[in-house]
Amino acid sequence: MGAWGGRAVGGGRGAAVRLPVEGGAVIVEGCAGGRSTEVWMYVVKSPLSDANLATVSEALQGALVDLVDLALVAKQIHWNVVGPRFRSVHLQLDEVVSTARAHSDTVAERAAALGVSPDGRAATVAVGSGIGVTPEGWVDDSAAVRSIVDALGAVIARMRERIAATGEPDPVTQDVLIQVAGDLEKQHWMFQAENG
Ligand SMILES: [Fe+2]
Repeated sequence: MGAWGGRAVGGGRGAAVRLPVEGGAVIVEGCAGGRSTEVWMYVVKSPLSDANLATVSEALQGALVDLVDLALVAKQIHWNVVGPRFRSVHLQLDEVVSTARAHSDTVAERAAALGVSPDGRAATVAVGSGIGVTPEGWVDDSAAVRSIVDALGAVIARMRERIAATGEPDPVTQDVLIQVAGDLEKQHWMFQAENG
């Protein structure tokens, strides 16, 4: 079975697995309901060199993990905020959720377009996120704002490192990350102004 092209039939068993092969392709062995014996091969050829692809895929995967966690953290605070400024903070937090979710999709699909499998699983996010642990329970509005300012600040700092790292290897990915940072910095500004 060659590294590139089409679909082959084989003896795949168990849960789906992904096997990295040369050039950013993956072989996916599927076993729907324990009955399939087909081995599917999906090939997405990257225009980047292996070295550049390694840098860019690390940046995109890191951005994906941070953005998925940011959406979760913003929802957690959205549900738990209490206090006189409840309504404005509650609603503004959903803007962060929408921004983070939209950008996570863009970032993941940029990775896929380069032949890199995006990993947005909960376990991957839990170990890879740059956002600190959000305290459980109700949170007063000022503390809620401080929490989301800290979370946004952590993600923005890492996003700017990724922007610097991807400029030469892949300006297209860098452009995606610049858009992400711009929107996050807008939210960062507005939440800082809330506690000003
Ligand atoms: Fe809501």
